[in-house]
Amino acid sequence: MAVEYQSFDVADYRMDYQNPHVSVESIEQETAIVDEALRLLEQQGILPHIQYDHDKLLAHRKAVEEHFEIPWTAISHRMQRLLYAINAIIQPANMIAAGIFCGNTFISNAGAGVGPGACYTAMNLVGLEIKPEEAERAERNVRRIDPTGVARVIAADAVDWVAAFPHEIQVLYLDADGDAARGKGIYYDILQAAWDRLPEGALVLAHNSVNCAERLTNYLAFVRDEANMRASVNVNFDGEGLEVSMR
Ligand SMILES: C[S@@+](CC[C@H](N)C(=O)[O-])C[C@H]1O[C@@H](n2cnc3c(N)ncnc32)[C@H](O)[C@@H]1O
Repeated sequence: MAVEYQSFDVADYRMDYQNPHVSVESIEQETAIVDEALRLLEQQGILPHIQYDHDKLLAHRKAVEEHFEIPWTAISHRMQRLLYAINAIIQPANMIAAGIFCGNTFISNAGAGVGPGACYTAMNLVGLEIKPEEAERAERNVRRIDPTGVARVIAADAVDWVAAFPHEIQVLYLDADGDAARGKGIYYDILQAAWDRLPEGALVLAHNSVNCAERLTNYLAFVRDEANMRASVNVNFDGEGLEVSMR
């Protein structure tokens, strides 16, 4: 059975994809909702604790607003905070994000390791984007807040690239929308390609677990099977959703 966090207001919470920096609720409300989701992840053994630096999250948010070119994004403030917090808590040496469009989705994860929100030292924070022109824009965006190069964007097919990645992956973030045949069903293929690089305790984060649940049927069945993942929680607080699974 799927374990789910659902906020009381999920039916009403809507961001504006074209104006993603506009706050649609108070910071207190946003923080309280995300804390509830983090607490369930802690209870399920997915997170060791739920502490992260709230001021650094806001410094990260401000830098993205000032320096990123974002034509649209479905990453809500709630989702940005959740992704930042998970990465700040887990502190992955290697985080791979697959299907990152203009990079907002990538930097919501990588922002815990680079830029003004950095709270630890990472080794490889890699965003993968199959469209070269989108990868170029995402890389330009990332370079404006991370001069170190620890966070970087690569134009590649995520399935092929993760299959060849030679190191362990502590956090794998999935957001690729695949081709016409697979759509978001490509998450399953990317997960399988990365599988033997995911150590015990590795987290796999799948965006659109709510609004693309039908296309993700195989993926969600796999991660919710305790024979494959020790725990899996569907976070449903913005209409898009994030399935958080631990190997
Ligand atoms: C819909 S976007 C994700 C947007 C993100 N959720 C946001 O709100 O900012 C999905 C991206 O995945 C990319 N993509 C599709 N298939 C891919 C693959 N096999 N490898 C890497 N990227 C892929 C697409 O080009 C697209 O930019």
